[in-house]
Amino acid sequence: MGRFSTRLAPVFADFAGVEPGMRSLDVGAGTGALTAELVRRGGEVAAAEPSAEFAAALRSRFPGLDVRQTGAEELPWADDSFDVALAQLVVAFMSDAAAGVREMQRVAGTVAVCMWDRERMEMLAAIDRTRAALGVSRWDSPYRSRVEIEQLIGDGAELELLEVDADYVDFEDFWSALAGGVGPAGIWVVALDDEQRATARAELFRQLGEPDGPFTLTGRAWAAKTTRA
Ligand SMILES: C[S@@+](CC[C@H](N)C(=O)[O-])C[C@H]1O[C@@H](n2cnc3c(N)ncnc32)[C@H](O)[C@@H]1O
Repeated sequence: MGRFSTRLAPVFADFAGVEPGMRSLDVGAGTGALTAELVRRGGEVAAAEPSAEFAAALRSRFPGLDVRQTGAEELPWADDSFDVALAQLVVAFMSDAAAGVREMQRVAGTVAVCMWDRERMEMLAAIDRTRAALGVSRWDSPYRSRVEIEQLIGDGAELELLEVDADYVDFEDFWSALAGGVGPAGIWVVALDDEQRATARAELFRQLGEPDGPFTLTGRAWAAKTTRA
């Protein structure tokens, strides 16, 4: 997933209107795919991340950055501390996404969120089809469609379907990234026993059109933005 989130970061930052000199907050920053883009654009950057491991990784990757170990639902910053608060691929993982968005709207004038679209993110769609072929129920995750994202962020939001590509040298390159265990799809693969994993690998290869060399997958994410009047 890292390959996709790194590519998504500049597209999402453009959508949110992040410009040099702005104060920006990366909510659910993970290991910093978006944080790096915000820092690159200049200005005052802060990050919120509930995982102790990821917060430590952020502190070591961005020395001096204001990193707080916290969820979005209770952000430890005063009202209007930022021009923009962004949550890239995070709202589906929040325990209370509505509260998280409200907090982001309290601390920043502009709020932007995005999540992969269930059907239009080619990698996740192929994994869903693979699971179905193996008789495993569809991966149940909220905020994977335009309507859910729109409902979450509220009336008057600006919406856009963002699109990015990720390149793979071959299927093995794709599979080894997945079998590294990153993200919900990776966690699923890692939890399989050897026989199930071999079956899943073969089915996923088939679902991706049996690529015999380099290939590209497209990821599309719904992004929504609100700006306080
Ligand atoms: C798929 S990762 C995305 C990380 C990063 N934004 C990126 O684009 O690479 C989801 C992140 O959301 C974080 N997270 C989970 N629950 C959260 C919450 N309630 N508030 C904020 N972040 C949360 C996770 O710890 C994880 O770092």
